[in-house]
Amino acid sequence: MKVLITPLVKNERISKNIYRLSVEFYSKIKPGQFFMLKTTDNAFLLPRPISVNDVNENLISFLYRIEGEGTKKISSLHENDEIQIFGPLGNGFELENLKGKTAVIGGGIGIAPLLYLCKALGKKADVYLGYRDKENMYIFDEFKSFVNRCIVVTEDGSFGEKGFVTDYVDYENYDTVVTCGPEIMMNKIANNCKAQNIKCYVSLERRMACGIGACLGCTVETKTGNKRACKDGPVFDSEELI
Ligand SMILES: Cc1cc2nc3c(=O)[nH]c(=O)nc-3n(C[C@H](O)[C@H](O)[C@H](O)COP(=O)(O)OP(=O)(O)OC[C@H]3O[C@@H](n4cnc5c(N)ncnc54)[C@H](O)[C@@H]3O)c2cc1C
Ligand code: FES
Repeated sequence: MKVLITPLVKNERISKNIYRLSVEFYSKIKPGQFFMLKTTDNAFLLPRPISVNDVNENLISFLYRIEGEGTKKISSLHENDEIQIFGPLGNGFELENLKGKTAVIGGGIGIAPLLYLCKALGKKADVYLGYRDKENMYIFDEFKSFVNRCIVVTEDGSFGEKGFVTDYVDYENYDTVVTCGPEIMMNKIANNCKAQNIKCYVSLERRMACGIGACLGCTVETKTGNKRACKDGPVFDSEELI
């Protein structure tokens, strides 16, 4: 884990309110891990957790959607401006646990960390990507060369299949399911997997203040007691969660 103040290699808008930022980084990162990011001009602003979207040699990228002050400030940075990054944090996906045919299901900004995961899983994975509409879509075309099948669903049918991404998954075809996105979507997926006895891993995007397990601001209730999403997660076996 490192804290770095580093120049941005790129910070570009790739879709409505969504940006891709890249910096150089020289340590190993697991899919599903995240960093705490912040601009360097305001010591009082807390860093924001953002997942690793991709790693290409020594360049890591993050995809973020502007939600409020922190992400808005990050979006105003230009190439060569400095940013503070702290990570990699969290457990990430244990690839050896993702056995057999795997469905990777993402919704909204939860799709961002799944690209690096799909690159690692390769052709044993089918990816299901759910967006609100065509205007809010991003990086769907980048998955295609890595995975076996890429199914795109928009709620209004403006691109790909119409409806909710959860309606298009044939659970019985899979040994393992992985998901990241809105909690309501992940809940539905976890319940379907439980009913069909399929292993399911969820990546939680809780609000976080410290990112290192110190503040207990991201507590998650599990069958074995309270856990911290930042340190014990963000990836959990869905059976473990209450
Ligand atoms: C482990 C982890 C990984 C994440 N990865 C990404 C990523 O790759 N890309 C990305 O765009 N976002 C990601 N997020 C969410 C991101 O951290 C928040 O959107 C960000 O902190 C918002 O900061 P802000 O200052 O822009 O908005 P704020 O002013 O802090 O909040 C604006 C609005 O967003 C809501 N909000 C803030 N944080 C969250 C959250 N964690 N979940 C749901 N709603 C929230 C607030 O309630 C508020 O309504 C991740 C979160 C976690 C915990
Ligand atoms: S964010 Fe502080 S304990 Fe998780």
